[in-house]
Amino acid sequence: MILSIESSCDDSSIAITRIDDKKLLFHKKISQDAEHAKYGGVVPELAARLHAVTLPKILEETQVYFSELKAIAVTNEPGLSVTLVEGVSMAKALSVALGLPLLGINHLKGHICSLFIEDETRFPMDVLLVSGGHTQLLHVKSLEHIELLASTMDDSFGESFDKVGKMLGLAYPAGAVIESYAKRGDAKRFDFTIPLQGTSSSLLAFSYSGLKNQVRLCIEAQENMDEQTLCDICASFQRVAVAHLMQKIKKAYKERKVEHFGVVGGASANLYLRDALESFCASKKALLHTAKMEFCSDNAAMIGRCGVEAYKKGAFVRLEDLKVRSSSK
Ligand code: KG4
Ligand code: ZN
Repeated sequence: MILSIESSCDDSSIAITRIDDKKLLFHKKISQDAEHAKYGGVVPELAARLHAVTLPKILEETQVYFSELKAIAVTNEPGLSVTLVEGVSMAKALSVALGLPLLGINHLKGHICSLFIEDETRFPMDVLLVSGGHTQLLHVKSLEHIELLASTMDDSFGESFDKVGKMLGLAYPAGAVIESYAKRGDAKRFDFTIPLQGTSSSLLAFSYSGLKNQVRLCIEAQENMDEQTLCDICASFQRVAVAHLMQKIKKAYKERKVEHFGVVGGASANLYLRDALESFCASKKALLHTAKMEFCSDNAAMIGRCGVEAYKKGAFVRLEDLKVRSSSK
């Protein structure tokens, strides 16, 4: 079995994954959303202090598995350095105490593996990664060979939901809240412009800061922010945010083949986005792969699943060589 730890941002999570059949034997996550909501976003220092309290609490519940562990897997990049350190320190301590090898796991590869929890990996696959920190379109030949087809030039997809939510006075993180308001809104009421059209339309990249500013001006122009207007702004913003993603994805695959398409990351829980991707995949006769809702946002189960692949390859890292990095190598 592998014990995995995730602490790259504001979720403390530990999982136990059986190596042979990839079965998830234990998984627990403690979210810090409520604590950070007061500040309208994640406060790294506070997140680190909370990890120091919650990670050991979760670890206590995994003691029954200790005698059967073969390795410790931990997210070491990318993420907030001060929070990554909490997980990595715990992993190193466990490695020394139990005499087990260490596996350093890339958080983004972890998200990709959220598609394969309790299942076999399936590559090649094209993957859209939409989280709070990243918006990337990837051609994944294997976990070692990942080609970046497009990424964001500024804000990420999930981050734009959080920033629009903040402007509307909604709680952090705002992605799911905006999605639920959008369900009751008129998505055509506000005619926001799809980003990166016109002169730069040849560019294969995403951009969300301009759309965020359009929404800000729209909010400022409202004399009466009633419930219906709030829903209409959410619906109109979500429509354009997803239309932008889809426009660039369609462009990327105009001449590229795609058979298997996966969507991962916290924002992949968005059903409006999933519907748009379903239509795209149907038009390409491709299969859409999604993670279970509970594994879309940050969790240690996906890190454990990635850990199994790293373990099988013998990709162990020495204690002194396991470093945290805020961005990927
Ligand atoms: O993957 P994740 O848990 O953390 C990072 O690695 O960043 O993603 C969190 C992000 C937040 O920005 C959150 O607002 C967004 O995912 N998110 C959503 C939805 N649920 C979460 N965005 C849009 N629609 C949702 N339903
Ligand atoms: Zn993440």
